[in-house]
Parts: sequence; C-alpha cells; structure tokens
Amino acid sequence: MDSILVTGNGPLNGQIEIAGAKNACLTLMPATLLTEEPLTLTNAPRLSDIRTMTTLLQSLGAEVSSLQEGKVIAMSSHDIHNHTAEYDIVRKMRASILVLGPMLARDGHAIVSLPGGCAIGARPVDLHLKALEALGAEMELKDGYVHAKAPKGHLQGGVVDFPIVSVGATENVLMAATLAKGTTVINNAAREPEIVDLADCLRRMGAQISGDGTSTITVEGVDRLNGATHPVVTDRIELGTYMLAPAVCGGEVELLGGRLDLVGAFVEKLDQAGVAVEETAGGLLVKRRNDRVNAVDVTTEPFPGFPTDLQAQIMALLCTADGTSVLEEKIFENRFMHAPELIRMGAQIDVSGGTATVTGVDRLKGAPVMATDLRASVSLILAGLAAEGETTVSRVYHLDRGYEQVVRKLSGVGAKIERIQGE
Ligand code: EPZ
Repeated sequence: MDSILVTGNGPLNGQIEIAGAKNACLTLMPATLLTEEPLTLTNAPRLSDIRTMTTLLQSLGAEVSSLQEGKVIAMSSHDIHNHTAEYDIVRKMRASILVLGPMLARDGHAIVSLPGGCAIGARPVDLHLKALEALGAEMELKDGYVHAKAPKGHLQGGVVDFPIVSVGATENVLMAATLAKGTTVINNAAREPEIVDLADCLRRMGAQISGDGTSTITVEGVDRLNGATHPVVTDRIELGTYMLAPAVCGGEVELLGGRLDLVGAFVEKLDQAGVAVEETAGGLLVKRRNDRVNAVDVTTEPFPGFPTDLQAQIMALLCTADGTSVLEEKIFENRFMHAPELIRMGAQIDVSGGTATVTGVDRLKGAPVMATDLRASVSLILAGLAAEGETTVSRVYHLDRGYEQVVRKLSGVGAKIERIQGE
C-alpha cells in the first residue's frame, strides 16, 4: 500500500485548481439510468470512487466511457439488462445505493445490496427506502439485498417527509420522482449544492423540478427524459481542504474555480480564526492574517451549516491555534478517528462522544500516522505540512477516493510532499 511523505516546510504560494465534485458526480452518473439517450458529464473528477461507479453502471448494462483523461464521462443506458447491484461493488462505495431510485423509476424493479456500515458510522439506508415507498415502491429485505418493485410498473407521485436531513436519500427520491406519475413534494430535503447540481442536470434532461436548494422540493413527473451534457459543479470539500493549506502553513494561495457561495459557513469560521478569504477573477485567494490562528468552535450541520466533510481538516488547523476549540460532530457517530493520529503528532485533543476539545500547541511534530477514512487522510497531510520534521501517512488508498493528484497540487504551491510506492 502506498504512503505519502510530508515534510514540514515554510509558507505556500501559488495556485491550485479545484476539480469537479466527487459527491455531485456520484449522483449525476446514476441519472443516466433515467433515459435511453446519452448523458455526458464534463469537469468530472478523476477518482477511484468514480471508477467504482463506472464499474457498477457497466455491470447493469450501461455504456460508460471516460474521455479526455477522465474529465469527460460519456454514458448511455440504452440497454439495461441487469437490475441487480451486487454486494461486491456496493460494499466498496455506499453511493452505489443511488442506482436504486433511477432503476425503479425506469423499469419498475431493482435489487440492490445493502451497503453495510463504514468507518465513520453505521450509515443505514432506511430513509432511502421509506422515501421510495412514499412513491409507491414495495421493498423487501432478503439476504442482505433490497428487492424493490413498483407494483403498477411505475412510481406514483407522493409526499416525502424526511425526519432528518439526508443528502443521499434526497438525491435518490429526487431522481425517482422525475419519472413518477404525478406530483412529488419532498419535505426537509437536503440543501447541499450537489442537490442543486443534480436538479440542474435533471432539468437539462427535461425534468420539472422546483425548490432545490431549499428544504422543500417539488417535482412534476414526466413520461420520459432526454439526454444532456452537464458540467459537474466545483468540489466544495476539495476547495475547503486546500483553503486550509495556507491557513496552516502561511503564504498566499489562489484556489482556481473556488466559489464563495459553496463554502459560506466554512469561510465564516476561517474569518473568525483569522484567515482572510478574498474573491478573485479566478476563484478565491486565501492567507492568514497572523502567524498563529485563533481557536474557534465548530458544529457540523447540513448545508448551509458547517460541512461534516471539512471537520477533520479544520481540526488539523486548530491543533496549533491560540486557545481551545470545541468541535461538535452532529452528522456522523464516529468521525473523530483522525484525532488519535493527530495526538501522535503532539496535538492535545480530548474526545468525548460527539465532541472533540482541541487545545492549541505551538507546533506539531512529524510522525508516522495512518489514514482511517477519506477526510481523515487529508487532515493528516495538512497537519504534516507545518509540523516539525517528517510525517508519513499510510493507507492512502482512502485519499485516492476523493482527492485527485494531491501531491501534484500541493507540490505546485511549494509543499514538500511525495508519494512512496508501497509493496
Ligand atoms: C453524503 O453521504 C456524502 N457522500 C458524505 O460525504 C457526506 O458526509 C454526507 O452526505 C453528509 O453531508 C456522498 O454524497 C457520496 P446522509 P450520505 O444521508 O448521503 C443518517 C465524503 O467524505 N442516515 O446525508 O450517505 C446517516 O447515518 C462523504 O465525501 C440514516 O440514518 O449522508 C448520517 O448520520 C462521507 N438513514 C446522516 O443521516 C439513511 O437512510 C446524514 O447522512 C441515510 C442517512
């Protein structure tokens, strides 16, 4: 397994280009199942999760080709001959559940393996199933698979009331509703930019959707959807991650393609911590105001609140802040696995349930550490950028799921970082 070697170094300066959003692409790709016509995505990120979704869609019979070194994904679901998403693929990536709604909407039946838990929590899919049942689907759980069918051969518009906000379940039922007969209203819908991007793509395909980006989304079902070409929205989590690099190390970095509206709550926290963010013609320019940032308290919430996917990364910054920061993780039950690794680097962190209390120290010390999940892995790299000495992050396959070319991007602004081939 490969590892990444980071050597604490001085300020970073230059530009980093932000890629298309992994979490948008993973819901846009299954949308190909809603039409027999070609659906093409541009500005796609080049990540292992995208390759996993490609394999899944191809296993169903979709044609998926990756063009222009992976930045364009051309898909056609003219001939879907298999309606079973196998455990072997689904277990690798939870987002596989997002083929359920589109397959049900298109052909009235689907069998999808339950994803199983993951490192950051149990992450059940009950809300996906209940939402699709509100559209008339019948679900049967058997041998670890969901057997879903639409008794009338098609879904019926209905009212979906989510007890808690779920990004994936909102995406699943939104896609299904586009072909349901009648009107669907989704209450307490997720408001993430990836939902709006999906709705934009579906509208290009002929869907009738309104209210996306708010808590109530309304969909008028249509008989069929056509093909389209859609640019994947900028990845706000990659953006926020790299905004933290100059915050941790000093210097000034411009994030090309960065959009303030995608990272509002995050930028507010950076401002409180003493990190200036300025809009430029090309994106966002970031630099810290002083040599040391201020401690800030963070609570993760659904969008537009502070994103859980940036919690590990900002913790890396707060390890050397001036003062004590309290981080509350409200979305997932076990998302502090980066804390013990940061403690190995000299951080002072006390974790109790969903709360982590970080007391800033002057400087971290490089150490061998282990990545435990996607966002934890990049948090350790951020910590290593300014730590004294060398940090080796192992199990970087986690990183490859969500960050394209992290070594090239950080080296490009002066970081001392390299990838070490594993055995
Ligand atoms: C999406 O996961 C993202 N993944 C996650 O990003 C992100 O952390 C999460 O949304 C929250 O923003 C993709 O988009 C592929 P949820 P998702 O349904 O849809 C519980 C990353 O690092 N829940 O909004 O799975 C769930 O356990 C990944 O890129 C149920 O109880 O998240 C969690 O506690 C990590 N039942 C909460 O809701 C369900 O049926 C929010 O989960 C579904 C979810």
